Amino acid sequence: MKFFVDTADTNEIRELAATGLIDGVTTNPSLIVKSGRDFKEVIAEICELTDGPVSAEVTALEADAMVAEARELVKIAKNVCIKLPLTIDGLKACKILTDEGYMVNVTLCFSANQALLAAKAGATFISPFIGRLDDMNIDGMELIEDIRIIYDNYGFETEILAASIRTANHVKQSAMAGSDVATIPPSVIKGLAKHPLTDKGLEAFLADWAKTGQSIL
Ligand code: G3P
Repeated sequence: MKFFVDTADTNEIRELAATGLIDGVTTNPSLIVKSGRDFKEVIAEICELTDGPVSAEVTALEADAMVAEARELVKIAKNVCIKLPLTIDGLKACKILTDEGYMVNVTLCFSANQALLAAKAGATFISPFIGRLDDMNIDGMELIEDIRIIYDNYGFETEILAASIRTANHVKQSAMAGSDVATIPPSVIKGLAKHPLTDKGLEAFLADWAKTGQSIL
């Protein structure tokens, strides 16, 4: 499963990119405002921090205007992935842009039928929002499972990009459900490696090693 980091904080991206574990970045207008930075400038900087897809979201609501914004955004870097909302106009713009060879991430997906439409529109990625469904006591992971079945039934190449991830369990469950990608907040990514028994075991190993009085170098 590919790991994208879900943030526009370049310090966080730089730190995580250095691990070699990051395959791309997703942003959205809320993450951009949180960064406090100029949209195009921060996307350009992010595109230099990773070779993977960097999602930059349009803000227009009408297809032709979305395409016009997308044509501006793709000028920033070759790894810009255009993020479009899952609306009829977003799907229309998706078809136009993917037919021209651009990467498109269709976002704000909350149903399997929406995901089916995105695949038919040629989306590179579909972003089902797990956490926001969970927030409404709807099982967000069921959506990932349903999309996986539908996409596999018809051999759609659109990649499932599990989004709105809140916990380490969301990451595990997305992987179990066969999501191609998970876009994960930096804090959740950093927490994935942590386990108290690992810490305890390492401490014991090093305490015993110290008793040998030896060194490797
Ligand atoms: O960036 C898309 C998605 O990951 C946003 O998640 O936490 O705002 O529901 P969230």
